[in-house]
Amino acid sequence: MRMIKAEGITKSFGSLMVLKGIDLQVNKGEIVSIVGASGAGKTTLLQIIGTLDKADTGTVFINNENLSILNDSRLSDFRNKNIGFVFQFHQLLPEFTALENVIIPALIGKTKESQAKSRAKELLDMLGLSERLEHKPNELSGGEKQRVAVARALINNPAVILADEPSGSLDTENKEELHQLFFKLRDTLGQTFIIVTHDEHLASITDRTIHMRDGLIVGTQPLAV
Ligand SMILES: Nc1ncnc2c1ncn2[C@@H]1O[C@H](COP(=O)(O)OP(=O)(O)OP(=O)(O)O)[C@@H](O)[C@H]1O
Ligand SMILES: [Mg+2]
Repeated sequence: MRMIKAEGITKSFGSLMVLKGIDLQVNKGEIVSIVGASGAGKTTLLQIIGTLDKADTGTVFINNENLSILNDSRLSDFRNKNIGFVFQFHQLLPEFTALENVIIPALIGKTKESQAKSRAKELLDMLGLSERLEHKPNELSGGEKQRVAVARALINNPAVILADEPSGSLDTENKEELHQLFFKLRDTLGQTFIIVTHDEHLASITDRTIHMRDGLIVGTQPLAV
């Protein structure tokens, strides 16, 4: 089943054309990696798919919903319910505990606090963090912080998790553990992922790798979906 479809995406910053016509489809339960040199447009594309930025032309569909025609308030609601983000730096709120950080998107989505907390505990438990619920970000290791960020991304059962160099600031061991976690979430929850990465090993084990250069997709491996 197709989960995401982007068609004819272009984007310029001033006179600089950063995306020159991107077409991309991702199926439910697929883990797709996007690779390419610095400046190729990977983050810009991910932000557009994630509705954090707008394309100049083209359309993005997620779950058959045409995001290009939603107004800002419908778009933020859609984003909250359907898209989970994991960034290179965890972007957890420093004043809040792990548990509190994870429930924030659920509270924004008007889930009852008791319900959000029990779901968050389930997720943090699944990610091996049941002993860290009350820790603040500066009391967590780098790998733990990234797993809290993954739990936060999962809390509203999103259609897709968009990850921008999620293991970019982790050491080898934590990196490997985070990558395994993505596959476990796919296998147990059917979670769909698009992951921008410079990590060749991760790219080599994803279901599909999209190569970008100068604002274009220049190759896909394997070719057939
Ligand atoms: N807000 C912006 N204003 C102006 N130029 C921008 C802006 N955001 C990105 N760019 C430019 O767009 C191009 C693509 O940037 P993007 O961040 O998408 O690259 P990337 O492939 O993610 O690179 P990296 O691997 O270094 O993260 C770059 O040349 C960048 O300088
Ligand atoms: Mg980038």
